[in-house]
Amino acid sequence: MPVITFANTKGGAGKTTAALILATELARSGARVTILDADPQHWISHWHDISGKVPNIEVISYVTMASIQTHINDNRATTDYFIIDLAGARNTLMATAIGLSDHVMIPIQGCAMDAKGGAQVLELLGHLEEKAGIRIDHSVVLTRVNSLVTTRALQVVKQLLSERAVRVLDTPIIERAAFRDVFDCGGTLQTMDPLRVSNLDKACQNARAFGDEVRQLVPLRLTRNMRRAA
Ligand SMILES: Nc1ncnc2c1ncn2[C@@H]1O[C@H](COP(=O)(O)OP(=O)(O)O)[C@@H](O)[C@H]1O
Ligand SMILES: [Mg+2]
Repeated sequence: MPVITFANTKGGAGKTTAALILATELARSGARVTILDADPQHWISHWHDISGKVPNIEVISYVTMASIQTHINDNRATTDYFIIDLAGARNTLMATAIGLSDHVMIPIQGCAMDAKGGAQVLELLGHLEEKAGIRIDHSVVLTRVNSLVTTRALQVVKQLLSERAVRVLDTPIIERAAFRDVFDCGGTLQTMDPLRVSNLDKACQNARAFGDEVRQLVPLRLTRNMRRAA
């Protein structure tokens, strides 16, 4: 059961949105997903409350420093992917969640290019590796990218990050009404009405590409405990 944590110390970076897109996409493809909602705004818990039963998805709404490890252990046998949505803050819960993760996703807004909150997460990951010898795989995912932005502009951001040896996912998350509206409607992209949500098909394609890329990077069999044992 890989643990994937979405972290950026800045609010509004797109963590919660990306976490829900990934969770619903993995669930759609048949994986059993548990989302740990550690965002004090509780958007995902609210989404779950209004959605009714979503196949393959469970949401845990309350977490403390003391309970996080137990939540992970309790779900190991029954969950394929465990996804953590963190607060937009630099706190001990963030450090603990990152320390327990197989992969940290760092959403950074592609348009704003304000990468400070992402840099703080990268700094923490660097400290963990240098001081404690713990290397946690991680990737930046560009979010809220304008669909009209040229790939050239994105290439520049990717180039800058790759110069610092930071992996950037090939799939950016595009700014789409569907990714916003799903929090109001509940359900999934597949249950939304294409007549009422513009470019729903493109949002579905984007979510699928994102899910495919994450599945390749973090396959089911690759969990941290197994890597340690190897
Ligand atoms: N890809 C996207 N398309 C459209 N709106 C988005 C997208 N990503 C984020 N948003 C919107 O931006 C705001 C902040 O996103 P959110 O995921 O809550 O960020 P965070 O969890 O990092 O604070 C929300 O209003 C959300 O609906
Ligand atoms: Mg959030």
